[in-house]
Amino acid sequence: MALEKFDLTGKTALITGAAGLLGIEHAAALLESGANVVLTDVSENSLKTSRNTLANNFDQSKIIEHVMDVSQLNEIYSVAKQLWSESIRIDILVNNAAIDPKVKDEEGILESSRLENFTLAEWDIQLSVGLTGAFLCSQVFGAAMAKDGKGGVILNIASDLSVLSPDQRLYQKPNFPDDMQPVKPVTYSVIKAGLVGLTRYLATYWADKNVRSNALSPGGVFNDQGDDFVHRLTSLIPLGRMADRDEYRSAIQFLCSNASTYLNGQNIVMDGGRSVW
Ligand SMILES: NC(=O)c1ccc[n+]([C@@H]2O[C@H](COP(=O)([O-])OP(=O)(O)OC[C@H]3O[C@@H](n4cnc5c(N)ncnc54)[C@H](O)[C@@H]3O)[C@@H](O)[C@H]2O)c1
Repeated sequence: MALEKFDLTGKTALITGAAGLLGIEHAAALLESGANVVLTDVSENSLKTSRNTLANNFDQSKIIEHVMDVSQLNEIYSVAKQLWSESIRIDILVNNAAIDPKVKDEEGILESSRLENFTLAEWDIQLSVGLTGAFLCSQVFGAAMAKDGKGGVILNIASDLSVLSPDQRLYQKPNFPDDMQPVKPVTYSVIKAGLVGLTRYLATYWADKNVRSNALSPGGVFNDQGDDFVHRLTSLIPLGRMADRDEYRSAIQFLCSNASTYLNGQNIVMDGGRSVW
């Protein structure tokens, strides 16, 4: 039966940044397919809220949560050791955590995103989560998948901006001089392109151990952004709209299950066609 290949019963998936907008959707997707999920995030309160939300719709015995900062190797190890001590094997790792500071209209904030003003400290913080965090989690959980011979799946959540340069006109504010216009920061492009490189590296590194690695590159998710922004962005998207937050679920199910056993090292760009226009 074709659908049996999507069945994740008996598998356990760990999701980083699971308390965010999409993290909870990834968790729901995996639960829908029968997996157990380990929700991890740096934010303890949001993690509890996400767990409770998911427990309304799914068997709560299949959901556990751990506070885990992906930029801290000791925290990742301590969660891993805790899981292993309970005989919980991570079969699927979804590297989803990121810091994506939203453009705010506060004095000094707008222009701080600009390349000329972007601080090394901010660069380091964002890379430590979005890129180094994915490396560290893959190092710990991917190595364990490879070591016991059972294999597994690593899925890196990138972005359509892994293959496109940001169109900075999307973020323009009226009546601001050029040197104060906000932009999508350089870190976003570097992290997302870096995740695709990490994906390809891992895809070959543990291929003989049956650990597959792919990237999913979502386009922008509608989340009550302002009308101007939505209008500008959707005019760049052939389907003429942003994504609904649950629209990536079926891709997650495909990429993390036996439905995609021959897919390895790829970056699946799911952007309503934006990158082909
Ligand atoms: N939302 C979109 O439109 C969109 C589009 C393309 C790609 N993405 C990507 O999808 C992923 C999820 O995006 P989102 O919209 O849910 O973002 P979000 O900001 O809602 O969630 C990110 C989560 O990461 C967590 N986090 C931050 N620092 C962390 C750390 N050090 N350790 C562990 N967790 C940490 C945050 O607490 C938050 O819960 C990100 O990688 C993002 O770049 C999102």
